[in-house]
Amino acid sequence: MTTNNEQAVHTSLDQDGILTITFDMPGRSANVLNDDLSDGFTAAIAEIESNNEVKGAILTSAKKDFLVGADLDKVFAIEKPEEAMALADGFKAMLRRIELSGKPVVAALNGSALGGGYELALACHYRIALSEPRVQVGLPEAKLGLLPGGGGTQRLPRMIGIQKALPLLLEGKSLRPDKALSSKLVDELADNKDELLSKAKAWCLANPSAKQPWDVKGFRFPGGDSKHPAVAQLWAIAPSMTNAKTQDNFPVVVDIMSCVFEGGLVDFDTALSAESRYFAHAVTSQTAKNMISTFWYQLNALNKGASRPEGIPQTTVKKLGVLGAGMMGAGIAYVAAKVGIPVVLKDVSQESADKGKDYSAKIMDKKVSRGHATAAKKEELPALITPTADAADLAGCDLVIEAVFEDRSLKAKVTQEAEAVMDQAGVFASNTSTLPITGLSKASARPDNFVGLHFFSPVDKMPLVEIIRGEKSSPAAIAKAFDFVLQIKKTPIVVNDGRGFFTSRVFTSYIAEGGLLLQEGQHPRRIDMAAIKAGMPVGPLTVLDEVSLSTPLTIIEQNQKDLGDAYEAIGVEDMLVKMVRELDRAGKKDQKGFYDYDAQGGKKLWPGLAEHFPLAEQISEQDLEDRLLFSQVIESVKAFEEGIVTNVADTNIGSIFALGFAPQHGGVLQFINAYGMKSFVARAEELATQYGKRFTPPALLIKMADANETFV
Ligand code: NAI
Repeated sequence: MTTNNEQAVHTSLDQDGILTITFDMPGRSANVLNDDLSDGFTAAIAEIESNNEVKGAILTSAKKDFLVGADLDKVFAIEKPEEAMALADGFKAMLRRIELSGKPVVAALNGSALGGGYELALACHYRIALSEPRVQVGLPEAKLGLLPGGGGTQRLPRMIGIQKALPLLLEGKSLRPDKALSSKLVDELADNKDELLSKAKAWCLANPSAKQPWDVKGFRFPGGDSKHPAVAQLWAIAPSMTNAKTQDNFPVVVDIMSCVFEGGLVDFDTALSAESRYFAHAVTSQTAKNMISTFWYQLNALNKGASRPEGIPQTTVKKLGVLGAGMMGAGIAYVAAKVGIPVVLKDVSQESADKGKDYSAKIMDKKVSRGHATAAKKEELPALITPTADAADLAGCDLVIEAVFEDRSLKAKVTQEAEAVMDQAGVFASNTSTLPITGLSKASARPDNFVGLHFFSPVDKMPLVEIIRGEKSSPAAIAKAFDFVLQIKKTPIVVNDGRGFFTSRVFTSYIAEGGLLLQEGQHPRRIDMAAIKAGMPVGPLTVLDEVSLSTPLTIIEQNQKDLGDAYEAIGVEDMLVKMVRELDRAGKKDQKGFYDYDAQGGKKLWPGLAEHFPLAEQISEQDLEDRLLFSQVIESVKAFEEGIVTNVADTNIGSIFALGFAPQHGGVLQFINAYGMKSFVARAEELATQYGKRFTPPALLIKMADANETFV
């Protein structure tokens, strides 16, 4: 037996000749694939190969998870394709030694096995997973613009078939144990760790000379290889279907399809080397760099508290008050009850409050019918919500969030009502989407405990909450709001106060650009399509129809009233008035906006648009796409310059999670980094000359371009 606690890999040989190899990297909370782990593991593999006393081996881990993938620091730092090839080939060679060792090797997955961790499990002859809901297995590389480089794109299709493997690889889907078992990603489940290890040992003893199916002569892909008629049919349509979804914005999906397609035509070892080439292409792509920086580094930093005021002890909300049981209030009550927080949900009448609670009951019904929640949870969750029409029931709430109508005097009234009874040291938050927080806090008796908590609709699906710091909001109040957002398992960004804060302001610039293009006579279908091609989830005219054209109109009119002569026109005011008031086409809720909607959920462009916004000479596709993205990016830089957003992570993540800003670019500021600061400034100047001064590059960018700086 060799055990060395300073090392990342421990081995222990029992009297039946079963070698247990345990990953336990010192000083890290999770095991990741890097040189430390590989060195120890290579030695363990040599022991399997050369020690005659070893009859079989079990791979497991002493951490909570099995192995969560490659060391992304190392992957991110790769610049040259040959470095990526060397990394993938080295890992593959190690895995090949396991499967060709001539002895049975079982992966005993005591926790999640993701990415390279699951590729390692795939190279074992058998996989058993602990049956706990926290455990996930799969190959999520595509979510970061990467692909599995350790044979994952070859072993998975050979194990479960090309048709089943392809969507898992393309979507980067991870599965919980029960689903992993039914999808054959694992062979067996165990209820606890002892059972896991004993089942693994039993399998080794029962299969003394295990071999991988693809190393047995005459191997055939389950469901057929790439030439098989059924699979060939898939290959005829999969690329166009995928492209319709991704608009060619994610090069890795083509890489993954190529790996699986080509791998399905050649022998296993040739297939592995083809995969290394595609891996090298993906790793060195700009898209992967964008996605890793934002969805890995920046998102992790935010969730770990990068934007939380320092030095304030962690808090948890014990009792939440929600004012207004409408669309937003009902959603907020649901997400809080979901994590076990008791909620008092107040509206003007008991009936309206009850309706807000019903919203949670309905979601739970749906979840139970789909098998996503237990019958017990269906009872427990809504039971945490107390609907009421009486403000006195807010007594004891340490956080109250108001989501009443967007009306200053009503918001002032409910603030005072709540503050009179809630926990006196508690925090009061407004879910306003547009009204500056400092102004609203004037109604508060404790403006230092007053903040903005801006949720997005639908609340249960949207992953972000924008926390707004009013002029008087104390760091402790911001920290409490921050902790609450993490408590309900969402991502918090913290921004300073200002009209539209960050997200609503950038959203306005997007829909305004869409409206301007329409007024200029660009074809409405081209406008919406250009946005989709540029990577936006929904075109600006469609989104305006969906939120209703009267929403921005009300905001604009409120701003005009508040600002008087200082109001800066955005250019689409008259168009909105015309659509909403003259033409009575406020959007989808009335089945008529830029599009006509039918009862079956279909839509087509409203023919009257051609009369009211006649077509002019069409500008290039590139100009359309650039205008729709640059307008948002430049507005974000202005918000950064003015100190509304104060760090790069908040800005990038906010733009993607709240607005769906083209994720392949890694957010609005990473877009500039990738475009090149100087090139961005030059292109913005071109757009400004051609289309208007809103594209003039802000001074901050010109300064950064001169100093060769990027947003970090
Ligand atoms: P809603 O119209 O669905 O709900 C408002 C609710 O407030 C109604 O149920 C109403 O009866 C209730 N209410 C009115 N007076 C009240 C009082 N004195 N006490 C308690 N409840 C009272 O509105 P929605 O869409 O939920 O919006 C609420 C707030 O959230 C607004 O400030 C809005 O700007 C903001 N918001 C809305 C978003 C959206 O997508 N709808 C997104 C982000 C913020």
